[in-house]
Amino acid sequence: MLSYRHAFHAGNHADVLKHAALSLLIANFRQKDKPFIYLDTHSGAGLYALQGEWAQKTGEYKNGIERLWQNQQKWPELKDYFQVLATHNPNGTLQHYTGSPELARSLLREQDKVVLMELHSSEVENLKNNLGFDKRVTIHQRNGLEGLIALLPPTPRRGLVLLDPAYEQVDEYKQVPDALEKALHRWSTGTYMVWYPLLAKGRDQSIPLLRRLQALACKNLLIAELAVESQQLEFGMHGSGVAIINAPWQFDEPLKALLPKLCEALKVNDYATWKLEWRIKD
Ligand SMILES: C[S@@+](CC[C@H](N)C(=O)[O-])C[C@H]1O[C@@H](n2cnc3c(N)ncnc32)[C@H](O)[C@@H]1O
Repeated sequence: MLSYRHAFHAGNHADVLKHAALSLLIANFRQKDKPFIYLDTHSGAGLYALQGEWAQKTGEYKNGIERLWQNQQKWPELKDYFQVLATHNPNGTLQHYTGSPELARSLLREQDKVVLMELHSSEVENLKNNLGFDKRVTIHQRNGLEGLIALLPPTPRRGLVLLDPAYEQVDEYKQVPDALEKALHRWSTGTYMVWYPLLAKGRDQSIPLLRRLQALACKNLLIAELAVESQQLEFGMHGSGVAIINAPWQFDEPLKALLPKLCEALKVNDYATWKLEWRIKD
């Protein structure tokens, strides 16, 4: 029952928050020459056509990456993110959006590795077509949460994981912390970034999810949230968050500078807001 296709949502405000944070995390890992590994449990296709039928149907990217793309000079802190996008949009018009696998692959170095997991058969085919040419990349068609545990501890031991489910099934709010508990047991020093949506009052599960993450045996937990409009009663995603387990030292600093800027650039109305908080601090 895999109905979710990320092409409808590629480049929206939630992708901007997630991919901006990911590019900053990777920059942090690149500060040392030592190799590192990037694991993506829910990879998607890796690359999306913004002029395609699906992206055009929702037009979500227009209130997301397109707002920043028009003023790239204002975002020196996101130069890595924009550099990767520019490679796929060489004539300056935003036509393609790079998902987390391609963003990470492009920012990693010769000595680093990428492991991508995706369950959907046609998405995994797209992913192989888009990224399979790179010998640093391994692609698995499998359940990413089970795969993560099976692959830990990784070689090299230094690295980061993105857990980015669509949360179409409410069970995923439980499966993610369950998997992280096992993952931390096998690889306590890994950095894990969990993306989650901020949904309408009747459906939001971010508070119980964060409560579970806070109970994990980890060194620290940093959360960054961005809401672009007010919370609705029944439907809609007004924002999203990333929870970073074992965040690098002082990783709140770049986010503290970024979040108010993103909030201003992506706001839909004056209820837009952001939050940055250490839930566990080492
Ligand atoms: C939100 S999208 C991923 C977007 C991607 N991480 C990015 O930032 O570009 C979620 C993806 O997870 C896939 N998926 C759903 N359940 C899965 C599972 N149990 N294991 C691996 N992939 C899964 C979906 O097919 C979908 O492509």
